[in-house]
Amino acid sequence: MSSPRRVVAGNWKMNHGPGAAREFAEALDLPISEDLDVVLFPPSLSFASLRASLEAKNAPVALGVQHVHHETSGAFTGEVSAAMAAEAGARYVLVGHSERRQIFGETDDQVRRKVDAVFEAELVPVLCVGETLGERKASRLEEVLGRQLGAVVSPGAIQERMDAGQALIVAYEPVWAIGTGETATPDDASQAHRFLRGRLREWTSPETAARTPILYGGSVKPENAAELLSAPEVDGVLVGGASLDPDSFSRIIAAVGPGTQ
Ligand code: 13P
Repeated sequence: MSSPRRVVAGNWKMNHGPGAAREFAEALDLPISEDLDVVLFPPSLSFASLRASLEAKNAPVALGVQHVHHETSGAFTGEVSAAMAAEAGARYVLVGHSERRQIFGETDDQVRRKVDAVFEAELVPVLCVGETLGERKASRLEEVLGRQLGAVVSPGAIQERMDAGQALIVAYEPVWAIGTGETATPDDASQAHRFLRGRLREWTSPETAARTPILYGGSVKPENAAELLSAPEVDGVLVGGASLDPDSFSRIIAAVGPGTQ
């Protein structure tokens, strides 16, 4: 059974305009190990600038967008579609990030429709799931993760896509660890990832579950990236704040480079 690719992804959130994106690409350290998928999620307005600057130095970095609407086009002021993201050169789309859920009120049902739209555009959804501190303290971790994953990967719903060769990435991002400096311990991450992998196995197939990368996100830094990535079931990291600085992002890439797994 094939094991998942290892992934280091950076979510810039609402940071870095086109000029800062170009400077970031120019300062990014190369080479990047071939067994690692490196992905950046810039703001949509900085996408073209970042893409051109990475291409100019032949950097093996794929790009994604942070958000799409589930329709392909229409009167939805301010939105972009998955088809547009694909045309612009994106390969990945973040879906269900806790900031979208909490600040913009995105529901599980909207997340499911977005994931469908992303698959329709032949892009890879990076489905973010994670519990709040209150939910964790109330021992509701599995209930919350199961509900968020199940909204998208209910029995049978996704297997057809996966059988056709499409890919899904899951990102476990405990809400209490995002932007707080608090990181889940490698054991906490493994436990949540093991649960998610088990549900994937149940709802898709053993092959799909085995090849679906499950990333950890929440205060990942150069100092803790290697330890997190060496934890069982952790296939990669989704980095927020520490992905904004080319030096710290390069150090994270180096820390999880060859030989750590
Ligand atoms: P931080 O790394 O800043 O905690 O953010 C994590 C995150 O939300 C990535 O999507």
